[in-house]
Amino acid sequence: MEFSLVPWREEFASSLAESADDARIARWLRDVFPHPYTQRDAADFIAFARESNAKGDFYRAVLVCGKAAGSVAVCRGEDVGRRGGELGYWLSPQFWGKGIMSRAVRQIVGEVFSGSDLVRIFAESFADNAASRRVLEKCGFVLEGVLRQSVYKAGVFHDAAVYSLLKKEM
Ligand SMILES: CC(C)(COP(=O)(O)OP(=O)(O)OC[C@H]1O[C@@H](n2cnc3c(N)ncnc32)[C@H](O)[C@@H]1OP(=O)(O)O)[C@@H](O)C(=O)NCCC(=O)NCCS
Repeated sequence: MEFSLVPWREEFASSLAESADDARIARWLRDVFPHPYTQRDAADFIAFARESNAKGDFYRAVLVCGKAAGSVAVCRGEDVGRRGGELGYWLSPQFWGKGIMSRAVRQIVGEVFSGSDLVRIFAESFADNAASRRVLEKCGFVLEGVLRQSVYKAGVFHDAAVYSLLKKEM
């Protein structure tokens, strides 16, 4: 299935809200990801993503048939972590299992390593999030370790699996 990655624009707010308003997505993400996900949340996120992109971050909409079907982002770290970036992503469940996010992650990784001075991209997945871990492994990310009980989500503790990919490994 075809998709494209594009910087966020205000006009994606309504399709973003439609795609993101799904408990099957929110259950695997930090609590900062709203559920339910309103039009206001979508507009606020797009404003934040646009400001962050202007400062050099990589917040991209996953567009399918002209609509925002998901999100992929690499956000630069701070202080001594400033030459690394954190990767995050989600996709509307109607498009799961079609290889979209594996291709989207490869694409943004290429864009980040060729278009910035970042040398490391890392991601933290709930350890029991098999689909997300598979995406990272398919894209060449290496498991660095497991953070035991580091996630407390909806009253349940999860371990987190930390993966990274270095520019020199590309
Ligand atoms: C993680 C997510 C983005 C994957 O998107 P996607 O486009 O469906 O991913 P892909 O199709 O590229 O790859 C998914 C892989 O996981 C595998 N997979 C899916 N569910 C699985 C499961 N329960 N157990 C094992 N493997 C699983 C698929 O078979 C596929 O691997 P394959 O190509 O070797 O067959 C999507 O499931 C999602 O949005 N989840 C909720 C939010 C989330 O978890 N975000 C990541 C937070 S770290």
